[in-house]
Amino acid sequence: MNPLKHVAIIMDGNGRWGLKYKKSRNEGHRAGLKTIEKIIKESIKNKIKFLTLYAFSTENWKRPKNEISFLFKLLENFLQNKINEFHKQDIKLKIIGKKNFSKKINNLLIFSEKKTFKNKKLQINLALNYGSKSEIVNSFKLIKKNKDKISEKKIEKYLHTANIPDPDILIRTGNTNRLSNFLLWQIAYTEIFFERKLWPAFNESDFRKIIKKYKNIKRNFGSI
Ligand code: IPE
Ligand code: IPE
Ligand code: MG
Repeated sequence: MNPLKHVAIIMDGNGRWGLKYKKSRNEGHRAGLKTIEKIIKESIKNKIKFLTLYAFSTENWKRPKNEISFLFKLLENFLQNKINEFHKQDIKLKIIGKKNFSKKINNLLIFSEKKTFKNKKLQINLALNYGSKSEIVNSFKLIKKNKDKISEKKIEKYLHTANIPDPDILIRTGNTNRLSNFLLWQIAYTEIFFERKLWPAFNESDFRKIIKKYKNIKRNFGSI
């Protein structure tokens, strides 16, 4: 059975779910938060150490202003309400992506990271304003600045995911089979699961099924 340390998720399908069931994309985003809570609980139950959630991509700035501001208001309320609970549950929050939001959001993110920094049970990497290509370019810039020699180790050192093991599993919900600029370097040997369900409809049992499948896969890493 394969060990499982790190699960990464592209949480896609909120908008379609919202339009279908609530006549509003934004209501889909609200419903998606409930799925996040379920998956965090289930991750702890399964002793997963790292959960990386794609919440907002560098490309998502192309969306209408009202949707973007709704998303960040949701995030703000979520963190304000939940960060104490996360802390009590020994959960560590790390933001991956460039923190260039409003001062209020930036401060809340920094506060949440600092507060939970020493926690050990589960690390949640929240990908916000995250894009894999710009992450890799940024890593090369830092290598150059520090006059380091280019190597896989050095490239990894300057990614947002430095010191985090590569994902064992990547899940994308929402019946779309693409990576949308997520963790392109880190998923070189990750087991990928494309899930038909929209994110708000995804649940613990779907998650457990994927974990079970993953555990029985023969992972070769190039060997036989
Ligand atoms: C993913 O759901 C969540 C974010 C990008 C914030 P979408 O909003 O992309 O939902 P669909 O794909 O339009 O249904
Ligand atoms: C990927 O979903 C980003 C997140 C889930 C945050 P998108 O819905 O933005 O991806 P595309 O644009 O359909 O590829
Ligand atoms: Mg989408």
